[in-house]
Amino acid sequence: MGKICQSTVLLTAWFNTSTGQFLEDAAIHLSGSNKNAAETYTAYKHRTSTQDPKLPYPPTKPSIDIPETREELWTLVGLDKEKFEHPPTHRWQMSQSGNWMIRRIPNSKVKGKPRIIYRSRNSSGLEGLSIVETEETDPALAPVRETEMAIKRQNSKDWDFFAYGSDGKLDAASLFYTRSGKTIKGPAPVSCLACHYNRRTRLFTNIPASYLVAEKFNSVGADSSNRP
Ligand code: HEC
Repeated sequence: MGKICQSTVLLTAWFNTSTGQFLEDAAIHLSGSNKNAAETYTAYKHRTSTQDPKLPYPPTKPSIDIPETREELWTLVGLDKEKFEHPPTHRWQMSQSGNWMIRRIPNSKVKGKPRIIYRSRNSSGLEGLSIVETEETDPALAPVRETEMAIKRQNSKDWDFFAYGSDGKLDAASLFYTRSGKTIKGPAPVSCLACHYNRRTRLFTNIPASYLVAEKFNSVGADSSNRP
């Protein structure tokens, strides 16, 4: 595994989104206001606790109460009881209940590791929920390095972003892989916003805009209702 470095400078190279428009949209997304966009963004970038009372995220109540642990999340959304016929592959597969789609990316460019995506279908009663787990390839470490979640905002086209660490607890950061092969820590949700932003539509969505074209070739059997 690459060296973990705290700096977010390298992430900025990935994002290339440091435009005023992005900052303004991110500030509205984070706090509900476009005032002091750069300050708002910076404050969230340095947020170390998801419970920071000065920096509450998201500004509007999500459709589910965001659990403190990955285990509670699994129970809440019913993934603890879901069964899949085959181990996940690159092709989308539906769960036996029909409530979830699952797919495995063997080597995610943004993680440098395999990733499993779970997307809720409308039949689950959970409108717009994507969960993705990074598989740890080092057997000495916890098998899931992180769990990330995107959930569609109520009465909005934007999605909110959350991360759980390898200890299964809600976290204010997540790990990413840079083009230079380093594993670095990025603050959540601001680093999520940078990649999951569509400059054209100005929306923050589960599927990164840069990924939409590639996605078309991999979405066989997928539920299209979750698309932005
Ligand atoms: C460096 C860019 C980048 C950053 C930062 C990033 N993502 Fe992503 N995200 C992606 C890409 C690319 C994918 C598509 C899957 C893949 O290739 O790994 C993705 C996929 C996802 C998915 C699966 C969506 C679906 O339905 O297919 C979720 C959920 C997600 N990300 C959540 C997050 C959260 C939460 C954060 C912040 C903690 C985050 N992402 C930060 C690039 C990024």
